[in-house]
Amino acid sequence: QQHPKSVIVIFGATGDLAKRKLFPSIYRLVQNEKIGSEFAVVGVGRRPWTNDEFRNNVTDSIQSSTKESKNLEEFTSHFYYHPFDVTNPSSYLELNDLLGNLDGTYQTEGNRIFYLAMAPEFFGTIAQNLKKQGLTETNGWSRLVIEKPFGHDLPSARKLNQEIREAFNEEQIYRIDHYLGKEMVQNIEVIRFANALFEPLWNNRYISNIQVTSSEVLGVEDRGRYYENSGALRDMVQNHMLQMVALLAMEPPIKLTTDEIRSEKVKVLRALRPVKEDEVSNYFVRGQYANGELDGKQLVGYREENNVDPESQTETYVAGKLLIDNFRWAGVPFYIRTGKRLAAKSTKIVVQFKDIPMNLYYKKGETLPPNLLVINIQPDEGITLQLNAKKDGDAGDSNPVQLDLSNDFHDGINTPEAYEKLLYDCMRGDATNFTHWDEVALSWSFVDPISEAWSKGKAAIASYASGSMGPKEADDMLAEDGNQWWPVK
Ligand code: BG6
Repeated sequence: QQHPKSVIVIFGATGDLAKRKLFPSIYRLVQNEKIGSEFAVVGVGRRPWTNDEFRNNVTDSIQSSTKESKNLEEFTSHFYYHPFDVTNPSSYLELNDLLGNLDGTYQTEGNRIFYLAMAPEFFGTIAQNLKKQGLTETNGWSRLVIEKPFGHDLPSARKLNQEIREAFNEEQIYRIDHYLGKEMVQNIEVIRFANALFEPLWNNRYISNIQVTSSEVLGVEDRGRYYENSGALRDMVQNHMLQMVALLAMEPPIKLTTDEIRSEKVKVLRALRPVKEDEVSNYFVRGQYANGELDGKQLVGYREENNVDPESQTETYVAGKLLIDNFRWAGVPFYIRTGKRLAAKSTKIVVQFKDIPMNLYYKKGETLPPNLLVINIQPDEGITLQLNAKKDGDAGDSNPVQLDLSNDFHDGINTPEAYEKLLYDCMRGDATNFTHWDEVALSWSFVDPISEAWSKGKAAIASYASGSMGPKEADDMLAEDGNQWWPVK
């Protein structure tokens, strides 16, 4: 296969995401020979940097994130900086001239990626100006990559979408959900649809419930200003958590094309049972971290963090019970939970199978431990299957044993990072692991009534100690169904 060729324009190139993720990803793509020398990167930002300053910044970024740093000078020579004012048309015209020149120098065939890694209030303005000033009119293709948040609720997301759709059509828009770039999230599909062992059981006849946990140890850090207006529901549930649910619940696509996969995911989101405002506390728990301790370190509560209102009602934790009203899933709860300042950094899916009809092995009144399929997304990657088996020497007893495929899965060092994969997909024109507008819209429609109810004070916010696994109310929600959260560590 030919190397993809493109100029990549990064808006917000002096920001954190570019430094932590984008530059190292481009570097690895080159090192791994996924792209050749037909590429250039133009960093765009308000600061009046020179090319040299920008290249030094890129060098720092690579050196602090990858162990190797071969050919750095040659690599950074592909990077250019363009000081920019997003609202000034002449900024775009100058940028267009630069892109034209680079296209010649690096033989990128007129292909352009515009990557918006900056404050979302400018997404619409930039997209429209790119078209108006002629930057999208080239001999090759132009694509727009958009970071989250994609709106704040359905109306604002719709408005943003209309603005960018005036300049780019749906096929040109790549909405990032970095969870879709994670190796094991991509593996959900393969585990489900490439194994005779799972697919026949993947329904309400054999599955009792599915649990998706994404827990973080970090608090809100220096993002108080953003997070106060967001909260865990918008920050994690609307996008990452619902995307994982969609992949777990979708029907097998008729083939593995972008359109077919997306349309199956859309059907899941359409089948989510809406949560009514008055019932929100039956299905969702919101929490906020108080002070606490983790690994001997004292941690302050959310309300004491920088740029956070001392009486903030913003949730840093959400647990929810989702019901999917379709033939396959009727009656099977999908429990999700995510939060900051929890006991462990872990993203995990646990599929709990139903009990077998009769227990021959355990004492009367006891039930056999259920079979669990655990998909470990991070930090470990792999799958574990919990079965019941006889231990050496024990007569007739059954014990839970684990079939663990964690280590066989990959060689950690060479696993491409989410951003590396997504950027490469975008360069090749594969939008499968990006979210379609329909998915975004349906996710907001599901989430909006919940945030609406919370903003009206329905269902009090539960406090949880930093370093714990969240509020007790989340355990109670599962206990009411006769279920429990399976540990993530
Ligand atoms: C981001 C959220 O989308 O995902 C952050 O804005 C969160 O608040 C992050 O910390 C978690 O991503 P990961 O890959 O570390 O699980």
